[in-house]
Amino acid sequence: MSARRTLIAGNWKMNGLTAEAKALAGGLAEKMNAVGDVDFEMLICPPAILIPVVAAVVQGSNIKLGGQDNHANAAGAHTGDTSTAMLKDAGCTYAIVGHSERRTDHGETDQVVNDKAAAAHANGLIAVICIGETEAQRDAGKTLDVNGRQIAGSVPDGSTAENTVIAYEPVWAIGTGRTPTSQEVQDVHAFIRGELAKKIGDNEAAKTRILYGGSMNPKNAKELLALPDVDGGLIGGASLKVDDFWTVAQNA
Ligand code: PGA
Repeated sequence: MSARRTLIAGNWKMNGLTAEAKALAGGLAEKMNAVGDVDFEMLICPPAILIPVVAAVVQGSNIKLGGQDNHANAAGAHTGDTSTAMLKDAGCTYAIVGHSERRTDHGETDQVVNDKAAAAHANGLIAVICIGETEAQRDAGKTLDVNGRQIAGSVPDGSTAENTVIAYEPVWAIGTGRTPTSQEVQDVHAFIRGELAKKIGDNEAAKTRILYGGSMNPKNAKELLALPDVDGGLIGGASLKVDDFWTVAQNA
């Protein structure tokens, strides 16, 4: 048994209004409360504007809350952005940074992601740093190169197993219903752990959770979560329905 506690993380992306967010969070809190102690950790990451609504609903359950992004600066003239202090103030203990949709939609580079993760750390948040290759990079045989470069560039100094989670999300697997084979996932995760060790040392890398993301669902979760270097999932589509997300979590 690995000492790494499985993390089942839901990334709601830009989905849901108040009523749906309350129903989804409420349904999950009910399930978590009914089972009592579990040996996995559940995290949900609602759209920023819904975090306070969701925080009120999950209060008293052991569901953790996270932001989907944060600014690298502490405060100031950054119209539309959210600081790590704001996330923390609203009840978050985690923040996703460097999701491929942020990298694509907002031109976030490894350096930007690195700065955002460092800001999360500085405010006591656990950074979930996302990496992953595109389909073209994969077809060109560059999967390991790309993920190695993203680990080197996106993981800030001062990262530890306590304040950092890595999410490997092949871009071509996100929202497509396609996934790499289990062997491919395990191979990339093991590689990532090795690259992480170069940055933070063998000991910390061995304790750091590496999540798989990209079309994880109730059908494939069991096999993916059983892989030795897969320590949980970052789940988009299947995190938007109580039963689907709960079924994924049951496989943790
Ligand atoms: P998906 O999204 O589960 O819908 O593929 C995962 C993610 O982008 O985090």
